[in-house]
Amino acid sequence: MAQKERITKVWIEEGCIVCDACETAAPTVFEVTDDTCIIRPEALNPDFTKPLTAEIVEAAEECPTDVIKYDVVLEDAPEGADAPTPPAAKSTASADAAGEAPAKAAPAKSPEAPAPKPAEPVTAAATAAKAPGKSDEAADGLDPGIQALLRAATQRGGNVGILKKAATVPESVQSIKRKPARDLPPDAKQARVIQEAKKRSKDPDKDRRALLNTAALTVGWSAFGVSVGVSCGPAFARFMMPNVLEEPDPRVRVGKIGKYVEMEPGDVNEDYKPQGIWMIREESRIAALSIICTHLGCIPNWLKNDRKFKCPCHGSGYRPDGINFEGPTPRPLERFKIFVEDGIVIVDKSNKYQYELGQWDMLGSYLEV
Ligand code: FES
Repeated sequence: MAQKERITKVWIEEGCIVCDACETAAPTVFEVTDDTCIIRPEALNPDFTKPLTAEIVEAAEECPTDVIKYDVVLEDAPEGADAPTPPAAKSTASADAAGEAPAKAAPAKSPEAPAPKPAEPVTAAATAAKAPGKSDEAADGLDPGIQALLRAATQRGGNVGILKKAATVPESVQSIKRKPARDLPPDAKQARVIQEAKKRSKDPDKDRRALLNTAALTVGWSAFGVSVGVSCGPAFARFMMPNVLEEPDPRVRVGKIGKYVEMEPGDVNEDYKPQGIWMIREESRIAALSIICTHLGCIPNWLKNDRKFKCPCHGSGYRPDGINFEGPTPRPLERFKIFVEDGIVIVDKSNKYQYELGQWDMLGSYLEV
């Protein structure tokens, strides 16, 4: 009958860098905590580890720091069984504590590599010598359930062993954990990548939430900045500007003198009403009338057929020369200064002439044509 190598005991030596590679390969045997890696209690039983020989071997080979050790024995394998055989054991087989045939020693993993140091096994005899409930060095401080598993395993004649977790992490291991991934050797770098990927996989929404939070903050602060800029920008710019009044140029160019020469006496030109000016023609003069009603400031309309200006607000009426003749207005329309410059007629709205003050005969209140 063919014989297969079976792992009867597995343990972890100092130097674990918490890379998760072992738990990935054999999750029922290894458990990676925040600080180190431990053997699960049920994996202290040879009956548990033997069927998992292939996974444990793979975990040992994946371990970048080579801290996973195990013992193997040769067992008869029934025909057709495809139980895996470890390619190379990491430790020599331990003699069975119950006095059975000693296990065949497995070859070392590498001829150059130093022989792995097996953990001190707690044999059945040693365990049996101790009364139940009494503490020993290996089981001191362990969970009662684990202690029960230890006793059960040793009473069945198996080898068990638990290495206490190292009180402190060696400086060499700490320095590896502190280094950035780009400075690590290839195996440790791979282990770091696996470890970080596993942490991310525990909370797949973490990155997405962080991204959404960042985007929300960016949009919020941008909107706040834009609203502050829009609402306060013009006021700030006005505050920084010199405190001066900006008024339109009072001088309006109303065209060449020729077009006014052609007008008939009594005609009104409304081309410059948007600028506040009516150009009127008298017998031998032209003048520039203000379009503001002298009653309360409305804008009258020029009624060509009636030959008058009529204010829509209170009914004041003015003749084509601007003299008032009906309604509540107390005085005629005002006239602006008018003169010619380079053949162009200029109206200066900053200078006004009032009829009731006798100013319409003043030079500048009219233009001879
Ligand atoms: Fe023109 Fe009163 S404002 S009539």
